[in-house]
Amino acid sequence: MEIAREAGALQLQYLERRIGFQLKGEYDLVTECDKASEALIVEKLKTHFPTHSIEAEEGGGADHKSSQYRWFVDPLDGTTNFAHGYPNFNVTMALEKSGEIIAGVVYDPNRNEMFTAERGGGAYLNNRRIHVSKVATLENSLLSTGFPSRRRHHNINIHFYYQLAMLTHGVRRGGAAAIDLAYVACGRIDGFWEFTLNPWDMAAGSLLIEEAGGRCSGMRGEPLDIRGPNLLTDNGLIHDELLTLFAEVFENRPRFPLPPVNR
Ligand code: IPD
Ligand code: CA
Ligand code: CA
Repeated sequence: MEIAREAGALQLQYLERRIGFQLKGEYDLVTECDKASEALIVEKLKTHFPTHSIEAEEGGGADHKSSQYRWFVDPLDGTTNFAHGYPNFNVTMALEKSGEIIAGVVYDPNRNEMFTAERGGGAYLNNRRIHVSKVATLENSLLSTGFPSRRRHHNINIHFYYQLAMLTHGVRRGGAAAIDLAYVACGRIDGFWEFTLNPWDMAAGSLLIEEAGGRCSGMRGEPLDIRGPNLLTDNGLIHDELLTLFAEVFENRPRFPLPPVNR
């Protein structure tokens, strides 16, 4: 929490300066802030936990093959938002022990919201216990999803997005996956899915959701693989309905055909 808070404060300092961005791949932005935040986090983790492995998005981690512990670090989740001055981004970190995520944090510096979870110990927002929502039908739900910045031309998500936008109260697209997951955990939204996540995007958030009483899986109901890329998650009550809808789209049986453009 302490390290996440410091990294979040750094993000806000950079935000005020409205720094520019570079491209690390087609449409895939990276800023000075991603790198500075990662350097801060990795240095502190190394000081506190010198024997642990660290897998950090911008490549500044550490590999200790013999360690049972591995940190997943996203030093700035929501870079595209950040680069445009759109205040929805965060820092997220999770700790894995022998293949299981045991602790995670998502810190949103714009709202000063610290989401934390430890396996078996519940999920918290600013030290208060949080729970997933009680919405029991897709019809009454508010969802969120994400689209990748890289290789987006190959992404199939628009088919799922359209069906779910027709069926629910709406589908948000916040641009910072870890915040979406934290919002499922505290009941601000009822579910989230994305096809192209990395472990650092979802490791902390998926633990938050499980500890808040929700459910995580792959797109066909298989157990979640936090090494990615797919995540379908919700309050548990709408999971079966979501899986049924997903199966229909995978089988090319959309409930709502796209409307024609020429009218
Ligand atoms: C991205 C954001 C976005 C999601 C992308 C992620 P980044 O992370 O979480 O919401 O849709 O898949 O890559 O690149 O800003 O850390
Ligand atoms: Ca990310
Ligand atoms: Ca990032």
